[in-house]
Amino acid sequence: MTAPIIEIRDVNKKYDEGRPALADVDLEVNAGDALAVLGPSGSGKSTLLNMIAGLDRPSEGTVTVDGLRLDRQGEAALARYRRERIGMVFQFFNLLDDLTVEDNVLLPAQLAGRPRALARHRAAHLLERLGVARHARAFPGRLSGGERQRVAVARALMNRPRLLLADEPTGALDSASAAEVRELLAELNQEGQTIVLVTHDTALAASCATRTVELVDGRIARDVVRTVAE
Ligand SMILES: Nc1ncnc2c1ncn2[C@@H]1O[C@H](COP(=O)(O)OP(=O)(O)OP(=O)(O)O)[C@@H](O)[C@H]1O
Ligand SMILES: [Mg+2]
Repeated sequence: MTAPIIEIRDVNKKYDEGRPALADVDLEVNAGDALAVLGPSGSGKSTLLNMIAGLDRPSEGTVTVDGLRLDRQGEAALARYRRERIGMVFQFFNLLDDLTVEDNVLLPAQLAGRPRALARHRAAHLLERLGVARHARAFPGRLSGGERQRVAVARALMNRPRLLLADEPTGALDSASAAEVRELLAELNQEGQTIVLVTHDTALAASCATRTVELVDGRIARDVVRTVAE
């Protein structure tokens, strides 16, 4: 029995005197899972994802990812954790518009000090795999939303992260592009990539999640493991 890749224990997060953003959250995620976090606006989904990404800290409780106690790490260790162990995909892609598609994808490898030749090889492979190789030399502004999100996924996968995190990855896409991204995430999970995604898109959860948790007012209200493929 291997340890879960994510272990969240008794986590509370308070930003101010009002209702906590997260309350008494306990969550374990196993390697190979695709977890979808659902819930209404303001229910704490992004807060939870940011805890797992080491972008935010709990007010109380512990967050362990890949054996690392994130709540105990300093900023430099967290930055390194983000560079080396996780990949992130956002609603609005967060690509750098002044860099070519290829250079955007290379950036995480460069920041991690990976050898340039190997990185270029991997970037080419990923762009090919995600169907955007012909845009390698273009700037992101020329691509469609769906293509930009594929580039963002390629960038997130560059350093072979243990964990792929996505916050509303289909939130800014038309329905055809959203369907492509759903399919892509499902494929990556089937190949073994552990994924945690936050979404309002129930089709996304249905198509690629092996497990769904629902947050309401910062608490886990439902936790459903899918046992039968749909
Ligand atoms: N940096 C912050 N400072 C103060 N309050 C915050 C901060 N980040 C989040 N909150 C509050 O915490 C609660 C949860 O916010 P969060 O962004 O996690 O919700 P969400 O479920 O992702 O919502 P949405 O679906 O709208 O993205 C909200 O009440 C929000 O206002
Ligand atoms: Mg959010």
